[in-house]
Amino acid sequence: MPESMLRFENVTVRFDQLEALKDVSFELKEGETRIVMGAAGSGKTVLLKTAIGLDCASSGKISLFDQEIQGKAERDLFDLRQRVGVLFQEGALFDSMNVERNVGYPLLTRRDVKGSGKKAAKVDMAATHARIQEALDFVELGQTLKLMPAELSGGMRRRAAIARAVATKPPLLLYDSPTAGLDPITAYTIMALIIKERDVDNTTAMVVTYRYQDGNLVANFRYNPEDGQLVPDEKAAAKTIFMVLKEGRLIFEGVQEKLESSTDEYVKKFVKRD
Ligand SMILES: Nc1ncnc2c1ncn2[C@@H]1O[C@H](COP(=O)(O)OP(=O)(O)OP(=O)(O)O)[C@@H](O)[C@H]1O
Ligand SMILES: [Mg+2]
Repeated sequence: MPESMLRFENVTVRFDQLEALKDVSFELKEGETRIVMGAAGSGKTVLLKTAIGLDCASSGKISLFDQEIQGKAERDLFDLRQRVGVLFQEGALFDSMNVERNVGYPLLTRRDVKGSGKKAAKVDMAATHARIQEALDFVELGQTLKLMPAELSGGMRRRAAIARAVATKPPLLLYDSPTAGLDPITAYTIMALIIKERDVDNTTAMVVTYRYQDGNLVANFRYNPEDGQLVPDEKAAAKTIFMVLKEGRLIFEGVQEKLESSTDEYVKKFVKRD
C-alpha cells in the first residue's frame, strides 16, 4: 500500500467572512503528482499553505505523512514541514542572498529531526556545499553560485527556487504556479525539471498551474536519464491526478482521461489540448 503523504478531510478555511476552502477532502498518496487547477482566487495557494500549517483550517482534519497537524506544537510541525519542499508562488528567493545562500538556506536552518528544537549541533559544511552544488547542477545552474537573484532571468530564478525546494531531498514537494509568467519554452524546461525530480528522486508532489500543457506533460511523459529529455510514458497517467477548485470547492478529482471527458463548463475551461 502506498503511504499517505497528505490528507484533507472536510477542510474549511475561513478568513473573516470569506471561505477560501469549503469542505475539501482528498488524499495524496506516495508516488502521485496532483495537478491543481482553478481560477484566480479559487483557493489553490490556500490549499498548499494549509497543507503545511501556514494557513489554518477552521474545521476539518489535515494529516501530513499520516500525522494530524492541528494542535501540534510548533516544533513538531516544524519537523514535519522540513520534509516538505515548497516552491512559493513567484519563486520568492531572498533578494539579499546570492544563489548559493538561497539554496543553502533550508540546509543550514534544518533542525535535527529528533525534535530537540535546536539547530543541528554541527553543520557539516563540506557536505552542505556539495549538496548545494548538486541541487544547482540538477537545475543546470551549477555556475551561478555567486550571482544575486537580481542578476538572474525569470526562468533562472524559478530554477534556483526549485533547487532550494529540493535541497533537503524532501519526499513531498509543493509547487505553487511554477510556470506562471514564463514564456512557453522556459515553462517547458521548468516542467521538465519537475518531472525529472519526480522520476529521479521518486518524489510525491502537488503542482498548481493554469496551463493544461503542464499537467499534460506530467501525465504522459517521463524523464529519460540517458539523454536528459522527456519521453512518452504510458504509465505516468495513472499516478497523475487532476484537481479543479472552484470558489474554494474541490469540484473535480481524477485522471486525465476523466478530466477530458468532463461535461462541466468550468472544468472544461481548463482542458485545452494543443
Ligand atoms: N491571508 C489571507 N487573508 C484573507 N484572505 C485571504 C488570505 N489568503 C487568501 N485569501 C483569500 O482566499 C481566496 C483564495 O486565495 P488563493 O490565494 O488561494 O487563490 P489562488 O487560487 O491561489 O489564486 P491565484 O491563481 O491568483 O494565485 C482569495 O479570495 C483570497 O483573497
Ligand atoms: Mg495562488
